[in-house]
Amino acid sequence: MKQKNIKTNWDYTTLAKHYDLRADYSKKLIKKILKKIKCKENYPVADIGAGTGKLTKLLCENKMIVNSIEPNSYMRFYGEKNTKKFSNVNWSSGTGENTTLKSNSVYCTFFGSSFNTVNYKKAFTEIRRILIKKGYFCCMWNHRNLNNVHQRAIEKIIKSHLPNYNYGDRRFDYRTIIKKEKSFKNVEKITQSFSIKIDKKDFIKAWNSHGTLKRNCQNNSHFKQIIKSITNYVNFLKTDFVEVPYDNVAYLAQLR
Ligand SMILES: C[S@@+](CC[C@H](N)C(=O)[O-])C[C@H]1O[C@@H](n2cnc3c(N)ncnc32)[C@H](O)[C@@H]1O
Repeated sequence: MKQKNIKTNWDYTTLAKHYDLRADYSKKLIKKILKKIKCKENYPVADIGAGTGKLTKLLCENKMIVNSIEPNSYMRFYGEKNTKKFSNVNWSSGTGENTTLKSNSVYCTFFGSSFNTVNYKKAFTEIRRILIKKGYFCCMWNHRNLNNVHQRAIEKIIKSHLPNYNYGDRRFDYRTIIKKEKSFKNVEKITQSFSIKIDKKDFIKAWNSHGTLKRNCQNNSHFKQIIKSITNYVNFLKTDFVEVPYDNVAYLAQLR
């Protein structure tokens, strides 16, 4: 059955096509997290705001039973396609504020680069509802390492177009936000650095799926102008590939 498209403040409709060119999460970090929270094979988990399935894929590979929740039908289309070889995943339409999952049904709720898109208060209420007793919460992002020479140059380009460029919440220290939720304990941050080598053309295309950059722009032509400046910079590089270092940053907490 075709699931519905839910309109949200963060609309990924036009970003879906190139989204897969963005970096995956660190396999090493996912294993570390699953070990830390003692999440065993066949445990039911939720990947909320699952998008094109980057985190879902890794949870499936680690043999969790994955409920992938995604509001945007374009993102979900790629997500379902990318994970069709797995029998331990179920995709449905929903949001962080209203997952449609059963109460007390999930061992851990995961958010891959999507917790910054939700209304925190409503999402925490929903997380508490769907988690089992003493269940876990995990949200994560890939942060581009801004000390890298190319990332520094690209930051400069972005800031020349957008002097007040705002990363939004994705670079927050989420420990502060989670600790305010008195219902969670053992709040911690873990980080894993990694780097990818990506074809120049794909590197440029991947910038076309950057939700935070797009939201900073006044309109689509403004966004396109910045992508064009980044394209000019990348095309000028002598190599065919770009090395992009990331920090995969994750926050974990347990329901009291
Ligand atoms: C940056 S993408 C991350 C996708 C995927 N989780 C990943 O790690 O690659 C953010 C996703 O959050 C979804 N989203 C937007 N608003 C949402 C909400 N209120 N609740 C849950 N997901 C939301 C978007 O449709 C998009 O697929």
